Amino acid sequence: PRTYVVTGSASGIGQATAQLLKERGHRVIGADLHDAEVIADLSTADGRASLIEGVTEASGGRVDAVLAVAGVDIAGPATAAINYYGAISTMTGLRPLLLNSPAPRVVAVSSITSVHPYDEELLDLLLDGEEAAALRRAAVAGPVYATTKRALSRWIRRHAITPDWAGAGIPLNAVAPGLVRTELLKRLFDDPGTRQRIEAGSPMPLGGPYEPVAAAELLAWLAGEQNGHMTGQTIFLDGGADVALRGDST
Ligand code: NAI
Repeated sequence: PRTYVVTGSASGIGQATAQLLKERGHRVIGADLHDAEVIADLSTADGRASLIEGVTEASGGRVDAVLAVAGVDIAGPATAAINYYGAISTMTGLRPLLLNSPAPRVVAVSSITSVHPYDEELLDLLLDGEEAAALRRAAVAGPVYATTKRALSRWIRRHAITPDWAGAGIPLNAVAPGLVRTELLKRLFDDPGTRQRIEAGSPMPLGGPYEPVAAAELLAWLAGEQNGHMTGQTIFLDGGADVALRGDST
């Protein structure tokens, strides 16, 4: 059995993934704000440090895969702090523990919104600036959520083939779901106007919103021993939304 770290394990995609991996006989260290083995708030530097501390202690210093799933779609700086900095500090902070695995893997959860319109200034600050400046921009920028997911996918592509990752034998990928039936989506769909905007913004010709276990299956594959050759990719699990929005991509 392998040891998997799953952030956002208390709900939705993270919960479904943790459950699937446990059913397959693996050890799962879940991390979340509540209802998890490791309680940590990924919106703050202190919370991110306690994630690393908690996982180091729970795992005994070795993990085989890290799945950075936790994320929110709320207005403003918290979304940037959790979706981007929370995910990146999870991946980089746990890298030393991955080095002790014979088949280390990392997967983050991006989004179909990573190809939606975005805020250029915020994207640049996320990728190259200070967190404080990015959070200030996130307080006033329009499409913060989409920008954090674009930045996350881009970060993965930029780091995948560096000495720290490919050089250390660690594949680094993302899954970009379309609309998935979770608490996050339910909250957004509560408002009919928002629901209509979201459905129009991410059209899914192949079947519409799906259950979180479908995303869990792909996350488990990417984080499993069998994935020895794919890295730097963002895989769209989106019912065709990426094709509908972007058409030809090569
Ligand atoms: P969810 O709301 O069901 O689960 C998210 C989990 O993250 C919750 O358990 C929550 O407590 C945790 N979390 C939130 N803030 C946190 C923090 N500061 N520190 C630690 N944990 C925190 O949402 P869902 O849909 O399962 O989302 C999982 C990921 O999938 C997110 O990154 C989201 O952006 C992404 N996603 C979701 C889509 C959807 O349609 N549901 C579509 C595309 C991407």
